[in-house]
Amino acid sequence: MPPLGKGRAMIFRQLFEPTASAYTYLIGCEDTREAALIDPVLETAERDLQLVGELGLTLRYTIETHIHADHITGAARLRGLTGCKAAVPERSKADHADLAIREGEAISIGKLRLHPLFVPGHTDDHHAYLLHGADGARVFTGDALMIDGCGRTDFQNGDAATLFRAVHEKIFSLPDDTLVYPGHDYQQRRVSSVGQERARNPRLGGGKSIDEFVAIMAGLKLPRPKKMDVAVPANRECGEVRVA
Ligand SMILES: [Fe+2]
Repeated sequence: MPPLGKGRAMIFRQLFEPTASAYTYLIGCEDTREAALIDPVLETAERDLQLVGELGLTLRYTIETHIHADHITGAARLRGLTGCKAAVPERSKADHADLAIREGEAISIGKLRLHPLFVPGHTDDHHAYLLHGADGARVFTGDALMIDGCGRTDFQNGDAATLFRAVHEKIFSLPDDTLVYPGHDYQQRRVSSVGQERARNPRLGGGKSIDEFVAIMAGLKLPRPKKMDVAVPANRECGEVRVA
């Protein structure tokens, strides 16, 4: 586990995009006024940037948890507007990324340190991000772990057994009071905790076995995301949308 260290004063906002029921997270360093957006969405890029400005922050990075299938990232739009850097997991093999994210290599946002945790299984490139602020620890879990749920495992090299192991090893091993901020919530629930998800997540927690989890995921039979054929190629280019 990354060193706990002393949490730094930070600015934090949770932003919602209703079409994809997606959360974007704004993290800013109180001291240096540098900021990052985790999982920005194309349609709300300008809204998020306006908030960055209102808070007196400078956007340094956009940071992806993974290549999304259900929406297009706002990374390229925000880079075009501000010159910020697009940080993407190295394993995503995205074109035009400025920073390759790897577990064990913290991302500095001013004096804040964001620690990537490799949690594959929803996709084979997925990372969560652990952050210790002065007010406690947060983990941004993307689609690996959601409140009372988790992301699907049936495409993009997803694998249910892999997700189960990764969540247990990398996220459920964190202290109980670590706040869990998911990539999506379809009921607009906003935050949970590691202790709560480990105890009562109906898929991954409550003592469920890996075999029970694999059976649950195999039985979901979910439809294909509507935007998948547009979103995945665009996100492999940090959200550049090509007009034919
Ligand atoms: Fe996803």
